[in-house]
Amino acid sequence: MIVEELVKVSKVYPMITALSKVSLKIKDKELLLIRGPSGSGKSTLLNMAGLLDLPSSGKVLIRGKPVSKDESERAKLRSEVMGFIFQDFGLISSLNTIDNILLPTIFSGKNYEERAHKLVRLLSIEKRIKHYPNQLSGGEKQRVAIARSLVNNPQILFADEPTGNLDSKTGAQVMDMLRGVADEGKAVVVVSHNPEHEKYSDRVVKVKDGEII
Ligand SMILES: Nc1ncnc2c1ncn2[C@@H]1O[C@H](COP(=O)(O)OP(=O)(O)OP(=O)(O)O)[C@@H](O)[C@H]1O
Ligand SMILES: [Mg+2]
Repeated sequence: MIVEELVKVSKVYPMITALSKVSLKIKDKELLLIRGPSGSGKSTLLNMAGLLDLPSSGKVLIRGKPVSKDESERAKLRSEVMGFIFQDFGLISSLNTIDNILLPTIFSGKNYEERAHKLVRLLSIEKRIKHYPNQLSGGEKQRVAIARSLVNNPQILFADEPTGNLDSKTGAQVMDMLRGVADEGKAVVVVSHNPEHEKYSDRVVKVKDGEII
């Protein structure tokens, strides 16, 4: 099933067209890998699909329904449907591990404590739940970021270079984990420079000069 569709999405900045009429279908149960050189538009594409930024033109559909331009509606969709792992982890330095993990859920009005603790055990960071980001190793920070991205049980998980700061062994563990998330039925969209990561994916999309090639 198609969970999200981009139809001829462009993103134009004053000096550059970062994305040029890109169409893409994102499917449940699929790990989609996005590859391409630096500056080709991969993060821009992820930001459009992740509703983090508005396209200059084109349409974005979630389960066939066009996404509104209204920021509060987009924020609601993001928090209910999507999870994000950012390249620099994006952890809040003044919050400890468990509070970082629970951050996406604070406006939901639901209790996610149990799920957060389950993820903490699954990712073997239970001894680190009271630690702050500056007390964690790179791999631990990455696992906190992964737990946070999954805490609201998203239908689509976006990850921009999730293994960029990790050694190859920890990186492989992260890719295994993301593969497992796709196998559970979610759509996983991963940006990676690493050709080795193709073996974890169902489909590879190559981006060059703002276009899918
Ligand atoms: N806010 C912005 N204003 C102007 N230009 C931008 C902005 N964001 C990105 N760009 C430009 O758009 C192009 C695509 O950027 P993008 O970040 O999507 O590349 P990328 O493929 O993710 O690169 P990398 O592999 O280095 O992360 C680049 O030329 C970049 O300089
Ligand atoms: Mg990028």
